[in-house]
Amino acid sequence: MHPHIIKPGEQPPAYDEIMLNNRGGGDSIRHVDTSMPWWNPRYWGKRAWFGVVAAILIIVAVIIGVVVTMTKKNAYPNYTTLSYSLVDTYSGDTFFDQFNYFTGYDPTNGLVHYVPQTQAESLNLTYASNDSAVLRVDTSVGPGDSPDASTGRFSVRVESKNTYENGLFVFDVKHTPYGCGTWPALWLTDRSNWPDNGEIDVMEATNNATDGNQMTLHTTDQCSMNVRRKETGSALKKNCNWEKNDNEGCGVSAEEDSYGTAFNSDGGGVMAMEWRDAGIRMWQFGRGSIPSDITNKTPDPSTWGTALADFPSTDCDIGSHFKNNSIIVNIDLCGDLVNAVWDDSGCSSNCTDWVANYPEEFTNAYWEFGAFHVYQSS
Ligand SMILES: *[C@@H]1O[C@H](CO)[C@@H](O)[C@H](O)[C@H]1NC(C)=O
Ligand SMILES: *[C@@H]1O[C@H](CO)[C@@H](O)[C@H](O)[C@H]1NC(C)=O
Ligand SMILES: *[C@@H]1O[C@H](CO)[C@@H](O)[C@H](O)[C@H]1NC(C)=O
Ligand SMILES: *[C@@H]1O[C@H](CO)[C@@H](O)[C@H](O)[C@H]1NC(C)=O
Ligand SMILES: *[C@@H]1O[C@H](CO)[C@@H](O)[C@H](O)[C@H]1NC(C)=O
Ligand SMILES: *[C@@H]1O[C@H](CO)[C@@H](O)[C@H](O)[C@H]1NC(C)=O
Repeated sequence: MHPHIIKPGEQPPAYDEIMLNNRGGGDSIRHVDTSMPWWNPRYWGKRAWFGVVAAILIIVAVIIGVVVTMTKKNAYPNYTTLSYSLVDTYSGDTFFDQFNYFTGYDPTNGLVHYVPQTQAESLNLTYASNDSAVLRVDTSVGPGDSPDASTGRFSVRVESKNTYENGLFVFDVKHTPYGCGTWPALWLTDRSNWPDNGEIDVMEATNNATDGNQMTLHTTDQCSMNVRRKETGSALKKNCNWEKNDNEGCGVSAEEDSYGTAFNSDGGGVMAMEWRDAGIRMWQFGRGSIPSDITNKTPDPSTWGTALADFPSTDCDIGSHFKNNSIIVNIDLCGDLVNAVWDDSGCSSNCTDWVANYPEEFTNAYWEFGAFHVYQSS
């Protein structure tokens, strides 16, 4: 070791070095020099360097994490404008010719007998005229009749012969069914391949439908709506997987006047559902505010403003979850969903008793439609 003499103009040695050099030495220098500030990397030891590098790595990792999270949160599909052409029209007195009548045991455990077309026509449960199509529940069979309705009331469920992979569906709805015990729906699915080919519920309600319309998707695994959405309705559950939440699906609830008495009293309106790889969106227009492009049969959803329900493809591959769907209209009675909400509905007795014994309570349980128009992009 040799004493270090600082020459004019030369940088002083590091503090450590001075202390080492003076260990046991006589004139110990308490050298706290402002020319060796802590922030100057020149005087950092190995440990300090390690700490700094570690800190930088942590900061970078945090920044990357924040950016990824923000990007994911802000991710939104490109709903670029599509040019739609009319492919199918369901209207007039041949409305029901384009549907199959589902018969047999109700897949959702309702207290109904879905009747075939001839019986539906003779009971006037389906009726089509020049400008409207009606589907109703039987209001004639009472407890004194033989057979009575104790094993199910007559009703109808029709499924379009044509199936779809995508499209813009414009439903003119003049009257929605309601009443204690009812579970009506306007929806799309592939019954033979459920849930693999998905289910899109456009209108659905139970009992007196005082909560308004509910729009819902049901899918297999890996379809989540816990992402950025642009919709005016209120999101319910976010996981569309039928195996979760007792198959509640991912729903969106609309205002109270979107279904039932309030909706019907204004002559109903139009439900529009756009189904494309970017996502599924739905709009509702009251009778007095139907956009002219819908009336003119040149619909352009990009001019309709924020959707009522938005199911973007961000975390759900719409193209693989939804296939080969028919348009379905039915009025179920009791069944899984009504049974689940009966006690909170304000309806009296129990659903079985109500449906079996009070036919006059089902006079409002009918759908009335104008036309359905299906468009696809070219
Ligand atoms: C959306 O897609 C269209 C057509 O593919 C493209 O022209 C447009 O730039 C895209 N917009 C964004 C924001 O990516
Ligand atoms: C069948 O129902 C329609 C629609 O409600 C009604 O206009 C028509 O009068 C009914 N027909 C018969 C025979 O009851
Ligand atoms: C409905 O009837 C009116 C009046 O008879 C007629 O002008 C119109 O073309 C008909 N519409 C359809 C879809 O049959
Ligand atoms: C499409 O759906 C119909 C009705 O559920 C079914 O009969 C048919 O087998 C399906 N086709 C395919 C290719 O899945
Ligand atoms: C359901 O609606 C009918 C007809 O508007 C009404 O008579 C009945 O009281 C309502 N029931 C409940 C539970 O709100
Ligand atoms: C439903 O109500 C009827 C009439 O009050 C009653 O006889 C029947 O036992 C009830 N059924 C159930 C399952 O509670």
